[in-house]
Amino acid sequence: MSHVFHRSLTQSYPIAVKGEGPYLIDANQRRYLDASGGAAVSCLGHSDPDVIEAVRRQVGQLAYAHTSFFTTQVMEELADFLVARAPAGIDSVYFVSGGSEAIEAALKLARQYFIEIGQPQRKHLIARRQSYHGNTLGALATGGNEWRRRQFEPLLIDVSHVSPCYAYRQQQDGESAEALGVRLAGELEAEILRLGAENVMAFVAEPVVGATLGAVTAVPGYFKRIRDVCDRHGVLLILDEVMCGMGRTGSLFAAEQEGITADLITIAKGLGAGYQPIGATLVSRKIRDAITSGSGFFQHGHTYIGHATACAAALAVQKAIESRGLLAQVNRLGEGLRERLLDRFAEHPHIGDIRGRGLFQGIELVADRNSKAPFDPALKLHAKLKQAAMAEGLMCYPMGGTIDGQRGDHILLAPPFILEDHHLDEIADKLLVAVTTTLKNR
Ligand SMILES: Cc1ncc(COP(=O)(O)O)c(C=O)c1O
Repeated sequence: MSHVFHRSLTQSYPIAVKGEGPYLIDANQRRYLDASGGAAVSCLGHSDPDVIEAVRRQVGQLAYAHTSFFTTQVMEELADFLVARAPAGIDSVYFVSGGSEAIEAALKLARQYFIEIGQPQRKHLIARRQSYHGNTLGALATGGNEWRRRQFEPLLIDVSHVSPCYAYRQQQDGESAEALGVRLAGELEAEILRLGAENVMAFVAEPVVGATLGAVTAVPGYFKRIRDVCDRHGVLLILDEVMCGMGRTGSLFAAEQEGITADLITIAKGLGAGYQPIGATLVSRKIRDAITSGSGFFQHGHTYIGHATACAAALAVQKAIESRGLLAQVNRLGEGLRERLLDRFAEHPHIGDIRGRGLFQGIELVADRNSKAPFDPALKLHAKLKQAAMAEGLMCYPMGGTIDGQRGDHILLAPPFILEDHHLDEIADKLLVAVTTTLKNR
């Protein structure tokens, strides 16, 4: 018996022994094409020599120095690199070890900001249903996925949830995409007014919704309207780019493609590409200045914030993305992946929607295309699909509860940026086999 407290205590897992470009290899020498980057993490694949060397060098020189005693060259350099490329107004970076910690820091920064500027009554948080922001209690409370929240509900802070921007299921007959954006921005504003605008602290959203919706982009104009609503009511905008950021959608920050900036932006996953655990909260000048000229101290911290080796890995990853022109490649490969998904699935009777941006693509399964009725959740199609894909040597990221946390199934794809065209065919072909097998045996 394993003494590891695994994610599932009833399932056994193959033993991963080696990474080779976009493949993971298990102890039986089986190869798995990593079409989901684990969970949208491994954007440079699994054996990048430059990143491995950067980690070796940093560990050899200085593995770790606690940030209450020291800063480090590598942490300073990574912060400079990110700020130089971040959306307007962002001017500093708070480094953490993952996405949930980045969200926790963002929530606390938002709260402390209002204390510093003399608006201590601002404490309400608004987020969206069907979002995922992490599993620590603050992040879980922020997320809007019913299934993940349910059993922990008594432990969660009170957060309002408004509708996601999910055109496939929300656009009404005769409603344009633009009109949907107007309607949803109106819903956010109504919630702010219901809570009393002077009491609302922040609105949190993923620019492209990953784990819980399967690469759902917002309709054009939605985020500009959201930004405007927040500004009019003095509410901070927190964009969670933990999954969709760091080049995944074809621009370093997903917000760039929405034409907006945020007061706080969270990143993780692709930041260190899995070579080290690292996340960060990017902070706007406005918030930093308020804290600098107020208490001068952010009342937060963890042992491993700003970990030197993690920063070295992230800096090497980000330099590799830039110097190798990988953002352009994400756009090109993303088109290629979409074409292949359309080729295999556009006419498929049980695929209702194919969506996404860059190398962040999702397909939604339906029992009936016309009515968009989902499969019975009791079938647990998403779990079966994951197994069927693994049996084909393909890692993808299927999830259930797409519609409301209970019903609906989708598959998320987030492969490495280093693929060659033949890998795109391998992904689409293996995925088609996995979908066909799963539906046949359901
Ligand atoms: C959008 C988003 N935010 C936050 C998180 C939490 O990140 P982590 O699992 O690194 O804590 C995730 C993880 O999937 C995510 O997708």
